[in-house]
Amino acid sequence: MSLFAKKPISVLLAQANEDNESSLRRGLGPVTLTALGIGAIVGAGIFVVTGQAAAQHAGPAIALSFLVAGVVCALAALCYAELASMIPVSGSAYTYAYATMGQVFAWIIAWDLMAEYLFAAAAVSVGWSGYFVGLLESMGIHIPTILTQAPYIAEGHALVATGALINLPAVCIITIVALVLLLGVGQSGALNTAIVVLKVSVVVLVIICGLLYANPDNWTPFIPPIETDAATQVTRYGLPGVFAAASIIFFAYLGFDTVSTAAQEARDAQRTVPMAILGSLAICTVLYIAMCFAITGMAPYRILNVPAPIYTAVDNVGPQLAWLKPVVTITATVGLASTLFALLYGQSRIFYVMARDGLLPPVFARVHPKNRTPWAGTIITALVAGTFGGLFPIGILAEMVSIGTLLAFAMICGAVIYLRVTQPDTPRAFKTPLWRVTAPLGILSCLYLIYELPQATFVRLLVWMALGLLVYFAYARRRAASF
Ligand code: ALA
Repeated sequence: MSLFAKKPISVLLAQANEDNESSLRRGLGPVTLTALGIGAIVGAGIFVVTGQAAAQHAGPAIALSFLVAGVVCALAALCYAELASMIPVSGSAYTYAYATMGQVFAWIIAWDLMAEYLFAAAAVSVGWSGYFVGLLESMGIHIPTILTQAPYIAEGHALVATGALINLPAVCIITIVALVLLLGVGQSGALNTAIVVLKVSVVVLVIICGLLYANPDNWTPFIPPIETDAATQVTRYGLPGVFAAASIIFFAYLGFDTVSTAAQEARDAQRTVPMAILGSLAICTVLYIAMCFAITGMAPYRILNVPAPIYTAVDNVGPQLAWLKPVVTITATVGLASTLFALLYGQSRIFYVMARDGLLPPVFARVHPKNRTPWAGTIITALVAGTFGGLFPIGILAEMVSIGTLLAFAMICGAVIYLRVTQPDTPRAFKTPLWRVTAPLGILSCLYLIYELPQATFVRLLVWMALGLLVYFAYARRRAASF
């Protein structure tokens, strides 16, 4: 079969309806979908990576980095929303590519999305572990650090052993969330919405307190002057630092595409999915930028390179905010679990559609007869994400997520251009405004942020993609279903 074989949109839609009769439920409305989006977006990015990126790269100008990343993300989200309204079925970018650009592109995107979701789940589990360990410490319970830290860290292209054994809390939380998912999205969807409300309320609370208690001296200079490390010659801060941080914290915006992976379980998907994608992204952008001002106002940015930076920022204010510290820690622990929920959910659904198309072994498409969840995909996702989360620190994982996401977003913008040219008359419930500008600008800005990431991340992505092509030619291509 041709590398560029396509899956017709009519087949996709027919399959979606058929599926819904026999397997997946169509129960998610616009509020639940937006909550799913926010649940996936607000996570370790804002609770952990923001502080670390401010300390290491951008200083208080981390707010500017979030603005840059937010704009790039919005370009991609507008393209995503158009595709989601044309092809409202599960599988996200993978499905869109299969319908438009052909099998090999679909595979490349799917393999890339796998990096995005699996590494993101791993990164969030590590972020969760940081806050959870802090929570236990505050109750006087100490777990030995060899059981709470990554056994490996990255130094340039090499992995260096740290002496730790495993990040056990990270592995445990992935296991627990996977079990909740296995019970069925119906129950856990409602729980997720409740947690998202809690998470957003506390983020707003920290923002208000942060702005009330900020020390304006901490914001000056807003963009710290460039510094060069004498030993490594690595530079940081300055305007280059702002852009470097923008590509690292891009990770924080990932998640709105989770909404599109749930399209097949959504009511009136053509309308509700684009709405939820754009709505969740807009809400999060505002929250993030405000949060950046809050934490860099409460504490000097240099002390924020810690596993639980929001806690550190609040703690720095002093006794006036003592009451907020447990609230932050408990919410981060519950809230990061909900992010993990959305990510594991998204990945298992992508596996599901790929297996149904013959590109992955059939076990990934098996749906539990009673709970109607793709159980094998969920378990495998949890095993792989748990392994990464148990072994690596959040920095490496977040960079992998950012590069994977940026590449997928560039491809999505490309798909919009391709479809506008080749299928101008196909109905689109949502149209990307000014697509001739939005989509090319989306591609260029994603590629620029990829260029800003450390070179080692780029090499890791190449290795991952090469592995993917190997699997494609050795397995997927031969087994692919024809349409
Ligand atoms: N956006 C998600 C987070 O920040 C992945 O944790």
